[in-house]
Amino acid sequence: MCGIVGYTGKNMAAPILLDGLAKLEYRGYDSAGVAVRNTKGKHEIVKTKGKLCKLNDMLDGGNALSGTCGIGHTRWATHGAPSEENAHPHHNDDMSIVAVHNGIIENYTDLKEKLLNKGYRFYSETDTEIATKIIDYYYRKWDKNPLQALISFTLRARGSFAIAAMFEDYPEEIFIARKDSPLIVGVTEDGSYLASDVPAILKYTRDIYYVDNLEVGRIGKGTVAFFDVDGKQRKKKPKKIDWDVEAAEKGGYAHFMLKEMHEQPAVVRDTYNAFVRNGKIDLSEGKINDGYLKGIGRIQIAACGSAYHVGVVAKYVIEELARVPVNVDVASEFRYRNPVFGKDDLLIVISQSGETADTLAALRMAKENGVKTLAVVNVLNSVIAREADKVLYTKAGPEISVATTKAYSTQLIVMYSFAIQLAMVKGSINEEKYARLIDEMSKLPEKMEKVLSEDERIKWFANRIMNKHDVFFIGRGIDYAACMEGSLKFKEISYIHSDAYAAGELKHGTISLIEQDTIVIGLVTQTALAEKTKSNLEEVKTRGACIMGVTYNGNYLIEDLSEFTVYIPSTEPCFTASLAVIPFQLLSYYVSVAKGNDVDMPRNLAKCVSVE
Ligand code: BG6
Repeated sequence: MCGIVGYTGKNMAAPILLDGLAKLEYRGYDSAGVAVRNTKGKHEIVKTKGKLCKLNDMLDGGNALSGTCGIGHTRWATHGAPSEENAHPHHNDDMSIVAVHNGIIENYTDLKEKLLNKGYRFYSETDTEIATKIIDYYYRKWDKNPLQALISFTLRARGSFAIAAMFEDYPEEIFIARKDSPLIVGVTEDGSYLASDVPAILKYTRDIYYVDNLEVGRIGKGTVAFFDVDGKQRKKKPKKIDWDVEAAEKGGYAHFMLKEMHEQPAVVRDTYNAFVRNGKIDLSEGKINDGYLKGIGRIQIAACGSAYHVGVVAKYVIEELARVPVNVDVASEFRYRNPVFGKDDLLIVISQSGETADTLAALRMAKENGVKTLAVVNVLNSVIAREADKVLYTKAGPEISVATTKAYSTQLIVMYSFAIQLAMVKGSINEEKYARLIDEMSKLPEKMEKVLSEDERIKWFANRIMNKHDVFFIGRGIDYAACMEGSLKFKEISYIHSDAYAAGELKHGTISLIEQDTIVIGLVTQTALAEKTKSNLEEVKTRGACIMGVTYNGNYLIEDLSEFTVYIPSTEPCFTASLAVIPFQLLSYYVSVAKGNDVDMPRNLAKCVSVE
């Protein structure tokens, strides 16, 4: 996820662009840049690796660049490490076309192939430079018609994009195109503004045009025109935004955590699209081929917090599908327990930030022992990503809330993809199951949307349990692994004590804590174990527990036992954590809000613990 801005009007563009980018820094901040059409009608590009403040200093707050039409970008690297060459804006050879982009062009390799065959050369590793040169190619093909060039790009590119481009032959105008990534336009008498998100232009206008999918636009000084991909002009009405600036940064949501929960379907789809090509798993981004997978004898997983919980889910999934033994540890234990390594071991470290000290130490220890290492990371080029032999990136985008949601969900997708391909290579699943699993994984985003729509009911139950002192999450198999994440989410933002237990383990001690009205949340999706978990819920019910059930639509096994039941769409048993975690996230969120806690920055916690 990156941030793009643009302005054309009466005033100098650079200060406006920098101000807009500052409002979008939460969307990405590893590099930034602007392009302004100068007084000689030429494009000047200034860009740099590092935080936006560095660009601001380079431009003396914008005074160093004169011109009243420009575009800007703040980057969250997905293709190509953070660097000046990879920073946006990108341009064609003579800089007569410059562009900024937010999104992921999935077919960038075949577009690059096409351009190389046409004699184009590249200076960066980004999909955006390829997009810019595709636009250049179509601009030349369509007799220098920028709208037609953007329409052709829109129809040819696959993936998500919000792109803004300036063409030297079209002074003081900016051309835009959108598919899936957000893009808005505001028009005032001082000029016209474009941005990825409302915070960047709210100070100029509250009348916002939301660019629709497969729509292109032509922005002039105080004007905007929208067209469909047939080139027909579209009449659009602006929407009145009544958010304040702070709410706007959260996309209208009350907290980043709620916003990021609702981003999960989209970023899960982006991550799925990164690892599935034409119905097959493709791990080539991580330079992982079938030969590499074949050589794996045992997997060790080390991670912290929610990332560790992904590892626990992955253990069940990998062992179930691929029949390869998996050992999972919290990294702070793994690094000191002097683990035994086998020659065919693979250590997988999972980390959103890619900077967690314990996880990094576990990685380094494995490397010192000559063990193959693979990192599953969200932040491109982070230290763990750089030091692991191989890395698979989640496409969660920047995650602001300390309590992770979308990073957890996208890490699951990476681990499912890895497990399915490993199982296929090991011959433990057949073609039919391989295809069925991949097809079902592609349906998770829409099923996650359905579960997210349960939020009002869950909010009601959250208000009922907000003053409780103990909440237990119980389940069996992958349900138990999902309960671990549910319990951590719950306690870290509600400040109510919570524990996750293997449902079959309660009777060996913990059940002594169950008393009248103790809250027990029972997750029952593993059909083969459902009856057993049901009897565990009966055990706690007879001791006075108040039960919240989470189970599949149509499965009424625990309905009579539960005070409150959340039904989730059925899916492959190995994928249920992706759906079950959502009611847990929502419940935790609404209890935290009801208690007036700082949801996004809970006490004592940090988003990344890069020290021991
Ligand atoms: C904790 C975060 O500090 O670190 C958790 O609050 C996170 O959300 C854990 O799961 C591990 O962090 P990372 O970046 O290694 O996934």
